[in-house]
Amino acid sequence: TANLDTKFVGQNIKYFQEIDSTNNYAKDNFESLKDGTLIISEYQSAGKGRLGKNWQSNIGEGIWMSLMLKPEIPVYKAPFLTLVAGAAILNAFRNIGVDAEIKWPNDIVLNGKKICGILTEMVAEVERVGCVVIGMGINVNTMLFPGELSEKATSLKKEGFELKRSDIIREIMHEFEKLYTTYIEYGSKEEVISVCRKYSVLIGKDVYIINKNHREKVYCMDISDDGNLIVKHDDGVIEEVISGEVSVRGQ
Ligand code: BTN
Repeated sequence: TANLDTKFVGQNIKYFQEIDSTNNYAKDNFESLKDGTLIISEYQSAGKGRLGKNWQSNIGEGIWMSLMLKPEIPVYKAPFLTLVAGAAILNAFRNIGVDAEIKWPNDIVLNGKKICGILTEMVAEVERVGCVVIGMGINVNTMLFPGELSEKATSLKKEGFELKRSDIIREIMHEFEKLYTTYIEYGSKEEVISVCRKYSVLIGKDVYIINKNHREKVYCMDISDDGNLIVKHDDGVIEEVISGEVSVRGQ
């Protein structure tokens, strides 16, 4: 990736033609990898989605990459990095003319369909973070999605954008480093939250929150200053939903 103007994010790249999962590689090798290393593969034989689902990672169709970070933060602060990545991707997309939105907390959506998923994983060492791995799967050139995905997923190409993958990656690294550094050094969440609020697909809508086997319809009011989803139950009770504890589905 030429002309990458970051200090460390994406400055070291591990590039593979094929791998099981870039997230797994990052977690298994974090001790020998430098902070900010980006792992990219053309194809993943066992790409992972959230909730144990598999993630289709065909050759040439997308950007399958993981950022390996070693922040000195307690474990409970790590999930917010998913929103940092989400906001960075939104900013990066907008810089290159793609007006995407976020379905809190880990889906990026374009014209109502999913274009990118984020899977954050961590290796923890007694309450401290060993490494955080932010996996990003971006559908770039996919034209055909199997089964029910055809209604729910899309790609940049399908939506009319012919973009170079290296340009997209460079923008994301640049935007991520800015937001990440601000969060890690100053603890500030403001910019990330404001981006996620501004381009949220959930706010102002009825959504389902799914917790294990329980599913409930609630009204989504806002995203809190901490990055939680503020929802209103049918009985009027207002609750903050923490990312990672539930799955949210639109109607
Ligand atoms: C989701 O929406 O369910 C998250 C999808 C995350 C996919 C990316 S592709 C690169 C990285 N490696 C993986 O195995 N998964 C993530």
